[in-house]
Amino acid sequence: LVEANKLYEGKAKKVYKTENPNEVIIYYKDDATAFNNLKKGQIHNKGILNSQITTLIYDYLKKNGVETHLVENLSERAQLCKKVEIIPLEVIVRNTLAGSTAKLFKMEEGQILENPIFEICYKKDELGDPMINDYHAVALGLATKDELENIYSQTKKINELLKDLFDKVGIELVDFKIEFGKDNEGNIILADEISPDCCRLWDKETRKKLDKDRFRRDLGDIEEAYQEVLARLNKIVG
Ligand code: C5P
Repeated sequence: LVEANKLYEGKAKKVYKTENPNEVIIYYKDDATAFNNLKKGQIHNKGILNSQITTLIYDYLKKNGVETHLVENLSERAQLCKKVEIIPLEVIVRNTLAGSTAKLFKMEEGQILENPIFEICYKKDELGDPMINDYHAVALGLATKDELENIYSQTKKINELLKDLFDKVGIELVDFKIEFGKDNEGNIILADEISPDCCRLWDKETRKKLDKDRFRRDLGDIEEAYQEVLARLNKIVG
């Protein structure tokens, strides 16, 4: 991977062009940020762990009929992916109350929600990724109504599949954030990553946090927690 081919560098990943105009290489870094870049650090081996965890999850989703941008794994930190234009929405699903929603309603974290909460945020660092509704998304030209419907229906399926997958390895899928992109034919497909960086994952028995909250809240043993998630997933889908 040469810097001349770098198309984009984000907080946790770099994107490189390839000879095929419809494909890119995504490289996972160890850099970690939180609170809209206010907290910065590194998590040893995070790039390797998140790339592997994402691959296992995306392979499982693909087997179950969810299309993703992942083409194949190239090395421990690099994936060949379909080139997509990212839709600037962060789609969040909450199965258990935690994080910003617990704070918003001044409620304790940990209440299991009978009906999951779907949220969308406008992905724009300068604004701090504000939560918006469907009307904002359409008015701002981020997605059409039909596209939102498509995104929500894929999100619902992804949530059901992931809840089931994590449940089988003794993990409670508290919440997660996903992103979609449009491929060169205009199809909306799951892009970005699904890893402990963008999910809250609690051990089902002890409710120990196995995700980025260990970094955000200085709880220690971050790499070990990510390793644990990978090891458990490997047992059933590896
Ligand atoms: O902070 P909040 O409770 O809104 O986060 C909900 C979920 O979305 C968490 O799993 C968090 O890791 C993820 N998230 C993310 N990137 C953001 C905001 C939230 O991955 N910019």
